[in-house]
Amino acid sequence: MLRHRRSDFPEGFQFGVATSSYQIEGHGFGGAGRTHWDDFAATPGNVVRAEHGAVGCDHYHRMDEDLDLIQALGVDTYRFSTSWARVLPEGGGEVNQMGLDFYDRLVDGLLERGVHPAVTLYHWELPSALADLGGWRNRDIAQWFGDYTEVLMRRIGDRVWSVAPINEPWCVGWLSHFVGAHAPGLRDIRATARAMHHVLLAHGTAIARMRALGMRNLGAVCNFEWATPLDDSPEATLAAARYDAIYNRFFLGGLFKGAYPALALEGLEAHLPKGWEDDFGVITTPVDWSGLNYYTRKLIGPAEGSWPHYAEHIGGLPLTSMGWEIYPQGLQDFLIRMAEEYTGDLPIYVTENGMSAEDRLTDGAVADGHRTAYLNGHLEAVQNALAAGVPVKGYYIWSLLDNYEWALGYEKRFGLVHVDFDNFTRTPKGSYHALAQALRS
Ligand code: FCB
Repeated sequence: MLRHRRSDFPEGFQFGVATSSYQIEGHGFGGAGRTHWDDFAATPGNVVRAEHGAVGCDHYHRMDEDLDLIQALGVDTYRFSTSWARVLPEGGGEVNQMGLDFYDRLVDGLLERGVHPAVTLYHWELPSALADLGGWRNRDIAQWFGDYTEVLMRRIGDRVWSVAPINEPWCVGWLSHFVGAHAPGLRDIRATARAMHHVLLAHGTAIARMRALGMRNLGAVCNFEWATPLDDSPEATLAAARYDAIYNRFFLGGLFKGAYPALALEGLEAHLPKGWEDDFGVITTPVDWSGLNYYTRKLIGPAEGSWPHYAEHIGGLPLTSMGWEIYPQGLQDFLIRMAEEYTGDLPIYVTENGMSAEDRLTDGAVADGHRTAYLNGHLEAVQNALAAGVPVKGYYIWSLLDNYEWALGYEKRFGLVHVDFDNFTRTPKGSYHALAQALRS
């Protein structure tokens, strides 16, 4: 059971569920173009069992059933993403009308069911044609992205409730170009610095284009990981501060202060594109809200070798099946930090939070008390942040459905709804019923 009910939250507080296009739609359907995730997954060793998103959860064909599940859950908002390559298979130029029609139906289907459509324009499926041109390393991506934004918003922009241009700039930049764990799988510091900067430039460009269309309720969604020093040595403290600068403060600093933190610049500045300081006018184009995705923390200690001189350690807290420590305190601390240091009175949404587990379907049901416990812990963190005066306006669970968990394929189950990937049967888990009950009462 969930400990908190809807009535424990302020009037108008939005409860939502989140998904993303490549993870659920079935990118092989409906005339979508090839993406760098298809290419990444086709390269041996990148993705568990070389799994990809060609079929996903078959949401492309089961949209109505999924929308019914959202409605029956009783949430206020559905956060989904639109695929650039579904709308513009070559990244620009010719429009795939089937793609626009699909998102049009999705938006209307939500509105008919009384659910707010919250759109993300980019959740990682870059058209391969643009990857060929350097992808996020190429400064022109800001204008390509702006063009895509306009094409889509001219069609659905009159009916969507909120829009965020880009999901998780850290993943687009650092995870994909420095760690190499996501497409395009690079491990290159120069590419990283450029991608981290260009992703913010593309964000600001898209916000400006949507403002020009008269749109409102536009935001930014970043992911954060709390950095706890491994011990109380000055070396561990510095390593954790550097991790925090790269992971968390780089993007908040760029978006809300028009500056990058010194501890990130010490390694990245030499690789940023010429004239980067002049881009903050665009990057800081005002938004109406700030979104925070939160899952875990890391213990950080110093490391030998080249910058950034830190190493990640797993601490002693309970782990999810991703191997992520469960640490609700980090959500509370980030909510307070975001408001106090970066966004002030701007509404804040927890745009993703949730856990993966080895959920099993037994006799037609999935008992996932671990997930309900996780949600209880994190809703408590939201309550504490509210009590501290943070303007938290909503909380979205990742995810509605078990889905394609990127490089980890289909075996990491984050859904409130179980998906059988042999026949695509959906089965609401215990946590789905617990949330539905908490929202009704
Ligand atoms: C977030 C992503 C989402 C999903 C969850 C587990 O970083 O936005 O697509 O992979 O993690």
